[in-house]
Amino acid sequence: MLAKTESIAIVGTEARLVDVEVDVGTGLPAFRVVGLAAKSITEAEQRTRSALMASGFRWPPHRMVANLAPAALPKEGTHFDLPIALGMLVGDDRLSQEALADWVVMGELALTGRVRPVRGVLAAAIACREAGRDRLMCPAANAAEAAVVEGLEVAPVRTLAECIRYLKGEEGLQGIPDPIPPAERDVDDLREVRGQQNAKTALLIAAAGGHNLLFYGPPGAGKTMLARRLPGVLPEMSVEESLEVTRIYSVAGLLAERASLITERPFRTPHHNVSMAGLLGGGHGLARPGEVSLAHHGVLFLDELPFYKSDALEGLRAPVEDGSIRIARSGGAVKFPCRFSLVAAMNPCPCGFAGDQLKPCTCSDHERQRYGSKLSGPLIDRLDMQVDVGRPSEEELLSEPTGPSSEEVRARVTEARELQTRRYGTSLLVNGTVPRRKLNPYLHLTKAARSELRSSIPAMALSGRAVNRILRLARTIADLQRSREVDGSHILDAITLRASDRLLEAA
Ligand SMILES: Nc1ncnc2c1ncn2[C@@H]1O[C@H](COP(=O)(O)OP(=O)(O)OP(=O)(O)O)[C@@H](O)[C@H]1O
Ligand SMILES: [Mg+2]
Repeated sequence: MLAKTESIAIVGTEARLVDVEVDVGTGLPAFRVVGLAAKSITEAEQRTRSALMASGFRWPPHRMVANLAPAALPKEGTHFDLPIALGMLVGDDRLSQEALADWVVMGELALTGRVRPVRGVLAAAIACREAGRDRLMCPAANAAEAAVVEGLEVAPVRTLAECIRYLKGEEGLQGIPDPIPPAERDVDDLREVRGQQNAKTALLIAAAGGHNLLFYGPPGAGKTMLARRLPGVLPEMSVEESLEVTRIYSVAGLLAERASLITERPFRTPHHNVSMAGLLGGGHGLARPGEVSLAHHGVLFLDELPFYKSDALEGLRAPVEDGSIRIARSGGAVKFPCRFSLVAAMNPCPCGFAGDQLKPCTCSDHERQRYGSKLSGPLIDRLDMQVDVGRPSEEELLSEPTGPSSEEVRARVTEARELQTRRYGTSLLVNGTVPRRKLNPYLHLTKAARSELRSSIPAMALSGRAVNRILRLARTIADLQRSREVDGSHILDAITLRASDRLLEAA
């Protein structure tokens, strides 16, 4: 007999509905899965067999074929266990086909019959709504994730036996487990950093407009300290942003059990040993999002930039510019979003003291050159602000903390973000990442701004990209000053903060 259920396939951060047909025939006992199924699905045999028997059912002693359609779509993941097991029970006359009607089902089975959490439930729930399905059966541990999507009936299941009794109408299910609130992030205050006014201004601008930023300077000046205080000045995430971020973490399998939406903006700090796949995405089997995507709507912080592998750094060029990354797979490329601010820190040379007022640099020209050559011009060109974090003075170091607190900076950032949300009609776009054609009508360049640019382009040999990035930066600086127009002073500030030539010269 042929049984039919529905499940989903994860493609990038999207989910597509998939038919799961199980044919329980009359041949000799055997089990096969067809329909471009990865190894994780064909291994369902062991898990479903043990889970069925542990739940008081027999493994049907027949020839069984599970077909996943459409056949052209590559499928991966362990969440097909539950729909396949339910299909077998229908095929073996232990459950009626009607009982399964309308349910989209996902869940991995443990050998004991427990239903274990799976990846991509939020994407699945959204796909169900979009396709007009209104019932999703998923592991209880993932149910809070699915419940975020309105108008969807979510059945949280804990064991296969419980799931079957529920489908037969013999008993109800326990409610959706309460989501665990995220742990409070312990962030230090910006006021603890003495001096470094320029660097703090750059942090404010980077947070307000989602721009990229590089701190360079001698050891112990406060570069790492400054960058780590960025989460404390970033604005709250909107629901739209939070949904996009949660979807990525869900697909990556990084969402905690019983988590609902991620509400903290990501701040990712991969180690410099990170592989290309770890940084950009990929890996075996189902393509996993990399650090660039895990930093979506937040910050990717690369401390000690020249220590990262050159190929990984070069690989950053496209995603930084495009806001998304395509990963080639055998079954077709998948695309992950990655709009983040890139924040990096480095010393100007191997000994760290090039350009320092007090300590002489002990590096040879060759050493300095080799160090600087790790960073290509095109990568540096993408760093909107390059800030010299010099040694703080003795007065600064010994004084009481001064300047605005993280909370005060955050309030200014939030105001500037609200302005951008109104302007672009969505909280998903900021000055740093909005497509140029959407930014252009809001540039409002004054005459002085134009003439400033006209003289700087040849004088500083600015590239087309540099001009594009300066305009974005200037828009954010003007927003922070609540100025409708972008004036000459905003352009000048943006050019000064960029100052790429200085870094390249030091290197
Ligand atoms: N401007 C500053 N104000 C207050 N404390 C500072 C400042 N700069 C450095 N410190 C102190 O020195 C420690 C080291 O600073 P930090 O790690 O930020 O230096 P760094 O610039 O990243 O150095 P490196 O180039 O060696 O990585 C900080 O944890 C802090 O205690
Ligand atoms: Mg450091």
